[in-house]
Amino acid sequence: MRDKINSIFKKAFGNNNETRTFFSPGRVNLIGEHTDYNGGNVFPCALSFGTYGVIRLREDNKVRMYSGNFEEIGIIEFSLEDIKYKAEDNWVNYPKGVIDVMKKHGYNINRGFEIAVYGNIPNGAGLSSSASLELLIAVMMDSLFKFNIDRVELVKISQEAENKFVGVNCGIMDQFAIGMGKENNAILLDCNTLKYTYCPIELKDEVLIIANTNKRRGLADSKYNERRSECEKALEELKCKLDITALGELSINDFEENKYLIKDDIRIKRAKHAVYENQRTLMAKEALGNNDLVKFGKLMNESHISLRDDYEVTGIELDTLVELAWKHEGVLGARMTGAGFGGCTVALVKKDNADDFIKNVGQGYKEKIGYEASFYIANIGNGTREI
Ligand code: GLA
Repeated sequence: MRDKINSIFKKAFGNNNETRTFFSPGRVNLIGEHTDYNGGNVFPCALSFGTYGVIRLREDNKVRMYSGNFEEIGIIEFSLEDIKYKAEDNWVNYPKGVIDVMKKHGYNINRGFEIAVYGNIPNGAGLSSSASLELLIAVMMDSLFKFNIDRVELVKISQEAENKFVGVNCGIMDQFAIGMGKENNAILLDCNTLKYTYCPIELKDEVLIIANTNKRRGLADSKYNERRSECEKALEELKCKLDITALGELSINDFEENKYLIKDDIRIKRAKHAVYENQRTLMAKEALGNNDLVKFGKLMNESHISLRDDYEVTGIELDTLVELAWKHEGVLGARMTGAGFGGCTVALVKKDNADDFIKNVGQGYKEKIGYEASFYIANIGNGTREI
């Protein structure tokens, strides 16, 4: 990959003199879905695949960017004095957003640069190719301009870029997992306080298999925002009586005793998912610590059922992959991962059954859905860094 990204840079910008190379991973969330913006816990990890980038400073204030994944778009150029969102600039809006937010926070990015990127995260698969790119740029800026910014601050800057510049109202999970990832560890993150703990994942006889539905996540953003506002409304209703700032602060008992305050059945289901999923995430972390993978797998299954029936963010493709996985020999647990409405599933599978799993689930999916799913073994890697 190093050679590949270097030759992409060379092709776009002439030669490789005085360049520096960085890598930023994708992420998979093991459990704790749609809990981040509800002030709950998440349990993601960084992956060994991600986005590679090569950068070189310029003498003027121009920025020039090229992606080996979007060759047809060519080099996009803009000035540091004039950073605006432009739909036709496509993927470059993410880097633009990060640079813009950093400047607004007072970081003096005072010289232009050229960047070539190339990623091996499948686009639109819900493995956070956009957050990966955001952290790549944030870490590049921090290193090249010697700002020495705290890593969690870079995570927040990247999320702000996505929220305010790109206009996607995501929570903090993706950027956090990518910026703070650690090899062979998942991160338990309390999104209310940003307190986090690394939890070793030492699988001896099992593997984590990611399966991509290969369905384009068409409605994802509008449905995502709809779920967010349903939860915000439910929280407001609960606040009439309860002194809370987020659904993540509620125990299951608190919720059951007070759910009558929510005046709509749909909103009760949404809030129920947020509260129960948060508790499941804490239990899953416990189970992993006790090396109880059977329990961990069961919690993954319950998470999917809740996302399917109460939060309603799955759809036929994700449900098909997960239901085929549940029936397969050697599967301890399987669920959708990420925002939903397409994207990927993650399954905990006995190593000895992994090949059959990929073959049989793949075949069953194709028969029912009409096109293929893709499978990847998830290796848990480190966060964004210079290589
Ligand atoms: C997307 C968002 C995250 C999180 C998940 C759902 O990946 O970017 O912030 O809300 O969906 O858990």
